[in-house]
Amino acid sequence: MTTMETRGTVVFPEGFVWGAATAAYQIEGAVREDGRGTSIWDTFSATPGKVANGDTGEIACDHYHRYRDDVALMRELGLRAYRFSVAWPRIQPDGSGPINPAGLSFYDKLVDELLNAEISPYVTLYHWDLPQALEDRGGWTDRDTAYRFADYARAVHDRLGDRVEHWTTLNEPWISAYLGYGNGVHAPGRKDPAEAVRAAHHLLLGHGLATRALREAGAQEIMLVVSAAPVLTPAQVNDPDAEISEADAEAVERVHALSNAHFLDPVLRGAYPSAVALGDHVLDGDLEIISAPIDLVGINYYNPCVVEADADAPADAAWPGAAGIRFSPADAPTTAMGWPIVPSGLSRLLVRLSQDYPQVGLMVAENGAAFEDTVSEDGRVRDAERVAYLDAHLRAAHQALAEGADLRGYLVWSLLDNFEWAWGYRCRFGIVHVDFETQARTVKDSGRWYSDAISHNGF
Ligand code: FCB
Repeated sequence: MTTMETRGTVVFPEGFVWGAATAAYQIEGAVREDGRGTSIWDTFSATPGKVANGDTGEIACDHYHRYRDDVALMRELGLRAYRFSVAWPRIQPDGSGPINPAGLSFYDKLVDELLNAEISPYVTLYHWDLPQALEDRGGWTDRDTAYRFADYARAVHDRLGDRVEHWTTLNEPWISAYLGYGNGVHAPGRKDPAEAVRAAHHLLLGHGLATRALREAGAQEIMLVVSAAPVLTPAQVNDPDAEISEADAEAVERVHALSNAHFLDPVLRGAYPSAVALGDHVLDGDLEIISAPIDLVGINYYNPCVVEADADAPADAAWPGAAGIRFSPADAPTTAMGWPIVPSGLSRLLVRLSQDYPQVGLMVAENGAAFEDTVSEDGRVRDAERVAYLDAHLRAAHQALAEGADLRGYLVWSLLDNFEWAWGYRCRFGIVHVDFETQARTVKDSGRWYSDAISHNGF
C-alpha cells in the first residue's frame, strides 16, 4: 500500500497528539553512570535463564549518551510528543532518601532538548525499574514502597515541573504485579499469586499518593497507563456480533474485571471489581487516595485477550481468580513474537472504555509490532508489515473516534528497537532500526510513513 492511495481518507481531529514512546531501562544503558543505583531489572537480567540470550540493558541503545542525536531524529520525523520514563534508581539510588542531582540532570537536559525541538515531553515516572534496595525490603508487596514512590514523584516534579505538563504515574501496573510477583516472568521474578494481588494494590496506592503529590505541586495533566486489552471469545475475534453462551459471557466479564477494571475501577470509581480477591492489605481510606481525579487513561494495546469458559482450566499464576477460564491466542496473522494482529480490538476497547469511564480522556500510549527487520544493502529497512500494522491500527483508532471515543492521541511503540524485557534484543519494535554493534540508527520505511502521517494529520 502506498500513502498516495490512502491519503486524505483518515483525518484526525485538530490537536491530535502524535508521538512515540520508549522506557528508560529499554534504551538508556549507562547503568553504572553518574551515581545510578541498581534496579530490579539489572538484577533480573543478570540472573542466568531469565532473559533470552542472556541480554541485559547495560548498553541498550546507549541513549544516555546519544540523547541529543535521538532527539534530532525525532525532530526530523516530526514527532509532536515523546513519552519516556525516568529511571527511579538514577534519582534515588537506594529508592529513598537523598536525591542524586546528576541523575536528575540527565532528564533536565533531555527535556530542554525536546522543548527546543518543539516536542512535548510526556514523562512516565515508573516503567518497571524499581530500585533494588526497595525490592530487598519487600518491593511492591510492601506498603511503604507506595509512599517512597510519591516522594520520588515529588522530587522529579520539583526539577522538571516548570517545563513538563504531561505526567504519567505508572506504566501497566498489571504487568508489574502479575508478571513481576505472580508468574515471575518479569523482574523481580517472584512467583506468588497472593503477593501479586498485594503488589497490585500497593502500585495503585502509589499511583494515588503520587497523583496527590503531583497535583499539589501544580502538575497540569496526569495519566495512568494500563495494559488494556479487549476481552473476547474466540468466536468474537472475527465476528463482533457472534452469539456467545452465558458461561462464555461470564468468562469475558471476569477477565475484563481481573485485568482492565482491576486498575481502572479503583482509580475512576473508587472501588475494586468483585472478581479481585482482596485481603487485609486494603486499609480504610486507601480507595479515597487511589481515586484522586486524573485527566487521562493511557492504553497500551497489542492484542486482545481471548477467553472461554472451561470447567477444567486451572487458575494461572498471572491470573489468580481466573480458574475455569481457558485463554487462547486470537485466530489472526501474527507478528514476529507470535502476537496476533487484531486492529478491530483497539476500536472496541477505546469505545468501551470511553463509555465506562466518560470522565477521562484516552490516549493510545503504546501500540506497535515486532518484525524481523534487516537493513538492505541500499541502507533501507523495508518493513512493509509494520507500515500495514500502523495503518490498520490508526484506522481502528480513527473508527473509535467516529464512534464517540474521547481519544486524544497516539504514541507508537517504539521510537527505537530496544531491550524487550524477557525477550531481549531479538524483538525489534522500532520505527527506527538500531544496530546494537555500532549503535547506528536507520529510519525504517514505517518511520517515514509515520512521519508523513503526522505531517498530514492522517493519511
Ligand atoms: C509493553 C511495555 C513496553 C514494551 C511493549 C512491547 O507492555 O510497556 O515497555 O515492552 O509492551
